Amino acid sequence: MTGLNPESGFEPGEEFALAMDARDPLKEFRRRFVFPKGANGDCVYLCGHSLGLQPKTAAACVERELTAWAELAVEAHFKAENPWMPYHRLLTELMAELVGAKPLEVVVMNSLTVNLHLMMVSFYRPTARRHKIVVERGAFPSDQYAVKSQICFHGFDPAASLIELTPREGEDCIREEDIASLIGRAGDEIALILLGGVNYATGQAFDMESISRLGRERGCVVGFDLAHAAGNLILKLHEWGPDFAVWCNYKYLNGGPGCIGGCFVHERHAQAWGLPRFAGWWGHNEQSRFEMGPNFHPMSGAEGWQLSNPGILSLAVLRASLEIFREAGMERLRAKSISLSGYLEYLLGRSSSHGSSIITPRESEGRGAQLSIRIPRDGRLLCNRLAAEGVFGDWREPDTFRVAPVPLYNSYHDVFRFVQHFAAVIG
Ligand SMILES: Cc1ncc(COP(=O)(O)O)c(C=O)c1O
Repeated sequence: MTGLNPESGFEPGEEFALAMDARDPLKEFRRRFVFPKGANGDCVYLCGHSLGLQPKTAAACVERELTAWAELAVEAHFKAENPWMPYHRLLTELMAELVGAKPLEVVVMNSLTVNLHLMMVSFYRPTARRHKIVVERGAFPSDQYAVKSQICFHGFDPAASLIELTPREGEDCIREEDIASLIGRAGDEIALILLGGVNYATGQAFDMESISRLGRERGCVVGFDLAHAAGNLILKLHEWGPDFAVWCNYKYLNGGPGCIGGCFVHERHAQAWGLPRFAGWWGHNEQSRFEMGPNFHPMSGAEGWQLSNPGILSLAVLRASLEIFREAGMERLRAKSISLSGYLEYLLGRSSSHGSSIITPRESEGRGAQLSIRIPRDGRLLCNRLAAEGVFGDWREPDTFRVAPVPLYNSYHDVFRFVQHFAAVIG
């Protein structure tokens, strides 16, 4: 395989993987998750960038709320062990810690694309002079659709109002200096910079701190899609200062399929009552919410963007997972993640290649857990064959096989076994 980072300190044999696992301070966390059965009960799951595994505590947490529903029905809103009315607040601090925010700046609500639209309703305010949105070329399709539809909604034309950051000829990732130079050049025309914290296809992590600073210096609104960054990278949203961020909680955050999403609104907008927003009763000041008055008075902070009462069962699963994250700690997780992905890169570099190459940046600060492997021919077939053997990454058209060793539940031995299967299938 080409394009690899020659790592030092790793060794090729299986005993190295087992020894690394034995001394891993996070090794016990693996037992807290349910692994799929795979083939013959043997599974290598490197797909937490797509759907995280189920925490073993999730079922009991959901069961508790089902019991509250059965025993108390509507009264559970106030009388359950964890009353449903303020249930989402049980997650606020845990989530705020994970994304480096103040509790006031964070809320769990809706789903990612819905939250992205809500944020753009408030923060994309195009004018004749400043109407452009910057995205990365190849941003996740839902983001592209959302952004284009917002541009059209305001009567502008995506052909003129959308700027797509593009890798240089022959390169796969976008250079940070090209982002800086675009902002420098076109800053006055840019209404919104909206980038993924980590690009879903290449696994490239962007320098959110400098993008936030450069964008704001030029008067642009800055927002991030953290679908592939939350629970993966160390985030400091409050300090970095973007205007908003949105994310889903079913990837690295293990909240389960279709889990409720997350949203960050920087403190400086906490009481920006003049901002337009699409309103719903759950965002209304909770002191007077049940007076059922006709006029909307939003709550301070991110909670003021809520629309509907949230799905308690989804919150219950997510809470179970966030508690595990708090125990493990993002600093420790990130340290293990850097090592695990480096080990994966090292082993892939030693295995048979058949023209495949890693397109994710080599430097650890330029990526999260995920490595994206370009396979020029028959990659989907290969991915399917691996899945039949109980080895899971995922395929993204046209030529990318994505795999992510997740530090919370993957081991060095998982990585070792993955590369063995991969080499055998591709060889
Ligand atoms: C980067 C990114 N953005 C947006 C989405 C869409 O998320 P949702 O279906 O929760 O709106 C996804 C889903 O995988 C994603 O990976």
